This record gives sequence, structure tokens and C-alpha cells, in this order.
Amino acid sequence: MTQTAAVIGGGVIGGGWAARFALMGWDVQVFDPDPEAERKIGEVMAGAARALPMLYEAPMPRRGALRFCATPEEAVTGADYIQESVPERLELKQKVYAAIQAVAPDAVLASSTSGFKPSELQAGAVRPGQIVVAHPFNPVYLLPLVELVPGAAEPGVVERARSVLTGIGMFPLHVRAEIDAHIADRFLEAVWREALWLVKDGIATTEEIDNAIRYGFGLRWAQMGLFETYRVAGGEAGMRHFMAQFGPALQWPWTRLMDVPEFTDDLVELIAGQSDAQSGHLSIRALERLRDNNLVAILRALKGQNAAAGKLILDHDATLRRPLEDSLPLVTVRRIVPVDWTDVNGHMNEGRYGQVFSDASEELMFHVGADRDYIAAGNSYFTVETTIRYLAETLAGEEIEVETRVTLGEGKKLRLWHEMKRAADGTVLATCDQFMLHVSLETRRSCPPLAHVQDAVEQLARAHADG
Ligand SMILES: NC(=O)c1ccc[n+]([C@@H]2O[C@H](COP(=O)([O-])OP(=O)(O)OC[C@H]3O[C@@H](n4cnc5c(N)ncnc54)[C@H](O)[C@@H]3O)[C@@H](O)[C@H]2O)c1
Repeated sequence: MTQTAAVIGGGVIGGGWAARFALMGWDVQVFDPDPEAERKIGEVMAGAARALPMLYEAPMPRRGALRFCATPEEAVTGADYIQESVPERLELKQKVYAAIQAVAPDAVLASSTSGFKPSELQAGAVRPGQIVVAHPFNPVYLLPLVELVPGAAEPGVVERARSVLTGIGMFPLHVRAEIDAHIADRFLEAVWREALWLVKDGIATTEEIDNAIRYGFGLRWAQMGLFETYRVAGGEAGMRHFMAQFGPALQWPWTRLMDVPEFTDDLVELIAGQSDAQSGHLSIRALERLRDNNLVAILRALKGQNAAAGKLILDHDATLRRPLEDSLPLVTVRRIVPVDWTDVNGHMNEGRYGQVFSDASEELMFHVGADRDYIAAGNSYFTVETTIRYLAETLAGEEIEVETRVTLGEGKKLRLWHEMKRAADGTVLATCDQFMLHVSLETRRSCPPLAHVQDAVEQLARAHADG
């Protein structure tokens, strides 16, 4: 049964939540008093619908419906989960809770707050135990981290929040003790303060600081974080050696972290001016597109290594896989072309066409019972001959489907006919004639399949000859 999320406040963060929930198959009910909210969320949704599915090899769930509501009470009616993302003002958040708690006593009520502690949000609420902090990171539809801070939330509410967030592909980090700004933003605040001083004192420009991050430690942080990186930096002797070597440096007056530069008009002008010189030739939308493409490419690379956030996506991908539907012809692949599959011409590289058809035949093998267990037991199909005809271009972000027919299924011989189509208009992008032989992985020679696979292949061949 489709579940329903309520999104209260549909700005930068609320829009990202709405997109992630809808793309993961939830119906979403939004309330935001801004008359422009629908247009703004539409734009976030368009970016998210292009980028998020690129992370997955499995077909995405059917997209949930997005409905805009006239009142917060209407938006939370029937909702299993509520995500509040209104502006960062305590009295506003508390007022919103008073209105919605009366209508939705059983839903999880999670707040996106960056700074407030759960106890501050829970103070004065009719049911404090219903409220939990679930602090995400922008763009919510791509970054998996969400800091889950319970405060006085009931354990059952926290558990439900964790289960919902995991189900939509996120990584809930349980923050055991509540502090202002949780965990991650404390780091960002430290880095931000140091950066402000470096610009104010004329040591570095905004671009030089960004370069210091993106060419070096930013890459290390994305895959190992801080402590694991330093453990490696300690060499064979590891963390203890690292601490012994660099510990004394903490006494040196390197940092100005305890001071905050005065936020004068001059400082704002200095930073904004440097930022304009650095990136002013690109619109915010163009920068968002660049950011999303890069994040997708990094996350997919980590997925290939089964590491860090990539491991999370790999595991989530496995939960999205469903058995093929018994359609005629079989739809063996349904996916979005990811950014890292395109070449200098901007379209999908020809090698990836081969990969898509190979994925299609693997799905068909699973469908007829030649699955992982069957292969582990020493049986498989090997491709002997493939003929691909490239008929049309396909670009990153486009949805493609492969329809597969069994054109020959006799004994050890299996011949497949695949058609790759653009989902939006049915254009045939490529065809593939593929001849495979059943083999014994022990002798590495061809042999007939086991009876249940043979029966399934013959049945499909008959159905596809008639259909
Ligand atoms: N921007 C970030 O990077 C970021 C990251 C994590 C968490 N947050 C948190 O998310 C929350 C929202 O931040 P944002 O950046 O999306 O702000 P935003 O200004 O982009 O969006 C806030 C939205 O709330 C709407 N709103 C105002 N009053 C409302 C009400 N009474 N009911 C419903 N909607 C109302 C506004 O019209 C606006 O669309 C804040 O608590 C913030 O701390 C922000």
C-alpha cells in the first residue's frame, strides 16, 4: 500500500524532501503559504527526478503523487510521516506543531532544524514524544545523511523514523546527546569561521579556499572521513603515531576559531565580490546541475567500491529489485542513463549499450531460474555472439527500457532479441541479437541446462514465437 508523507514548508529543504519521498514511491502532501511554492518545488522535482534515479541500477518504484494543500491540517491528514521544514524560527515551528499535532496524533513528526535541540522543539507541545529532529543535507534527494536526534521522543517514534528514512535510501545517524547544531554543522561552522578569517585577512580568496578543499582533503573526507584518514596518515604505526606526531601542533597558535570576524558590510562585499568573480558567470541552476552531476558520479564511483555512502546505495539498490513481470515481450531493464555513462559527444557511450544488453540477458537468466544459486552450483550461460545495431542517441537523464524475446531455446542453445527503447516516446535506440550457450563451469564446456531452466526457456520461446 502506498504510504503518505506530509511536507510542511516547501523551500530548499522541504522541496528536496518532497522529491525524495515521491521518487521513492510515497504520496506527498505539501503545505507552504508561498504562492510560488508549487513552481519552486516543481523545479526541485525536475532536478531530483533526473539525478536521484541515476544512483540506482534497479528500476525505481512507481513515483508517488504530489498534492498541494491549502492548510497544514489538510496536508497531515492521513500522513504516516510528517517532515517540517519551515524557516528556522522556534516560535513558528512550535505554532506549526500545535496545529498539526491535533490532527495527526499517530504520525512521526520530524523537524529539519539545523540548529534547535529537540528539547526546544518539544517544549510546550501536547505530545513531546511525537517530535524528533531529522536534520538532512542539501540536496536532500542525493545526500544520504540525516542526523536523527531524539531528545524526549518516544523510542517507538525514533524507530519508525529510522525505518522510514532508511527505506527512502538515507543514512540516519543517531545523535545520542542533543547539542546546538547537532554534529555535522559543528564542523562546518569551524571551517566557515576559519575561512572567513582567511578572506578577511587577505590570505586567500574564496576560490583559493575552495581549491584547497576540492583538490585535496575534500576528496579524502568523502570516502573515509576524518579519523580513518588520519589513521592511514600515521603510517604503519597508525593512529597512536599520528596523535604523537601532530598532537603538539594543537598548542601552536594556528587557529583563530575562538574569534568571529565582525560581519561588516565590507566583509560581506569582499566575500560576495570574490564569489561573483569566481562563479558569477554561472546561474544558480547551472551550479546545481553541476553539483548534482558530480555528486552522482562520486556516489556511483563509491558504489563500485562498495565503500562509504556507495555501500549504502548498493544495499538500498538490492532492496528495490523486483522479479520481472510476466509481460510479453519481457521488460528486462528499466533505468535512467547516468552521467558517468556518457562520452564526449554527450550521449551514452557505445560500450554502455553492450552493458545494458548484458544486464538484460542476466535478468532473463534469473527469470528462467539461472540465478546466483544456479551459477554457484556450477551452471551458467556464456555469450558466444552479439550483434548490436545503434539506431538513435540517448542522453544522461533519459529513461530507457529493454524488451527481450527468446527467439531460440533448444537444449544448450539460447538466442535472445533485445530492443532498447526510450521510455518517453518508444523510439527504438538499439537492437541486439545475442546467441548464448549453456555451459558447465566445471568443465568450461557447453552442456544442456538443468530441467527446470530448460522448461522455463522452452516455455518462453513458445510464448514469444506466438506473441
Ligand atoms: N538550507 C539548508 O542548507 C538547510 C539544511 C538542513 C536543514 N535546514 C533547515 O530546514 C528548514 C528550512 O530551511 P530552508 O533552507 O528550506 O528555508 P527556505 O526559506 O528555503 O524554506 C522555508 C519555506 O517555508 C515556508 N513557510 C513559511 N512559513 C510557513 C508555515 N507557517 N507553514 C509552512 N511553510 C511555511 C516558506 O514559504 C518557504 O518556502 C530550517 O529549519 C533549516 O534550519 C536547512
